[in-house]
Amino acid sequence: MKVTISVIKADIGSLAGHHVTHPDTMAVASKVLSQAKKDGIIGDFYITNVGDDMELIMTHTRGVYDSKVHEVAWNAFKEATKVAQELGLYAAGQDLLSDSFSGNIRGMGPGVAEMEFEERKSEPIAIFMADKTEPGAFNLPVYKMFADPFNTAGLVIDPLMHVGFNFEILDVYEGESVTLSSPEELYDILALIGTPSRYIVRKVFRRGDDEQATVVTVDRLNLIAGKYVGKDDPVLIVRLQHGFPALGEALEAFSFPHLVAGWMRGSHYGPLMPVSQRDARATRFDGPPRLIGLGFNIKDGKLVGPSDLFDDPAFDETRRTANIVTEYMRRHGPFMPHRLEPSEMEYTTLPKIMERLKGRFKKAEDVKGGKESKHVNETSSD
Ligand code: F6R
Ligand code: MG
Ligand code: MG
Repeated sequence: MKVTISVIKADIGSLAGHHVTHPDTMAVASKVLSQAKKDGIIGDFYITNVGDDMELIMTHTRGVYDSKVHEVAWNAFKEATKVAQELGLYAAGQDLLSDSFSGNIRGMGPGVAEMEFEERKSEPIAIFMADKTEPGAFNLPVYKMFADPFNTAGLVIDPLMHVGFNFEILDVYEGESVTLSSPEELYDILALIGTPSRYIVRKVFRRGDDEQATVVTVDRLNLIAGKYVGKDDPVLIVRLQHGFPALGEALEAFSFPHLVAGWMRGSHYGPLMPVSQRDARATRFDGPPRLIGLGFNIKDGKLVGPSDLFDDPAFDETRRTANIVTEYMRRHGPFMPHRLEPSEMEYTTLPKIMERLKGRFKKAEDVKGGKESKHVNETSSD
């Protein structure tokens, strides 16, 4: 049977700051999804959170972009927002950018990752969900999973994987995507996805049979709203085993806590720290950016599981490194490269400061500089 997995997420308000969702909002969202299951719109669901983001994990047979499924998610977030408002939770309704549903939840605030495929005899999947970062945060681990034999032994050993994978890469600024093949075009892939704020690995397909292996949320809230209203804390779904990365290979890709953009006020680089569900709460400097992973099997369109994948001493060293990197980065305070470059910052107080100070900048007569001597900088090899 063909099954669709839809993970739709939103920050509709949280407890004690941008910290953690409240159980009452989760409970009311759960009621909405239960009803949708009774009504036969969805086959199954699981609700969780990472930090202040509520994550609706749903299975169904209606395909991607289905307006009924999207409406269910929208209603769940709307109902949860009402509870968030009643409880006075912080930033209630933050990610819901519209008052009414218009057929497709994309572009309305929530992040969406959906994938439809023929259910295998056994269909293991992992869902990775992060808080205080952006979709490009998954570029490096997805590259490792699907293109790096030092991470994924299957690329060498499993004949189904040996043919390589196609990477669909989205340019979020132009709204265009390009598909590049690994391993032949590896260097081109890296040339793009090394700029994760702009180029995002949106999907990966297995070459040979074109089976879809992953999907990532790509709705950057800043671009949707015309201004930055919050980092789009991302979700990645990965199909596992027998021609896809083994679970252990997917997890191995997160053993290095790489630096990602987000963290405090969506304006800082920090390490992506894989944690258990229990520790999926933003704390130090509103972070460090957190990642959880849940493992499921899909059977006859139903979810079996989950297993809390990073609730494991095997990731203690990763977390320790992340904490050391956290300390190191924090010592830079408001200085780059801990702080993002101005164009990437969620908060735009810096340009406003420049406006205010405009008239106070005076020509520095004793310094060679300005437009006339621009070529000097360009040709300088110092
Ligand atoms: C980052 C985030 C938090 C907030 C910070 C300030 O994505 O959610 O780090 O930016 O807590 O929040 P406000 O401006 O709402 O006080
Ligand atoms: Mg938030
Ligand atoms: Mg968040």
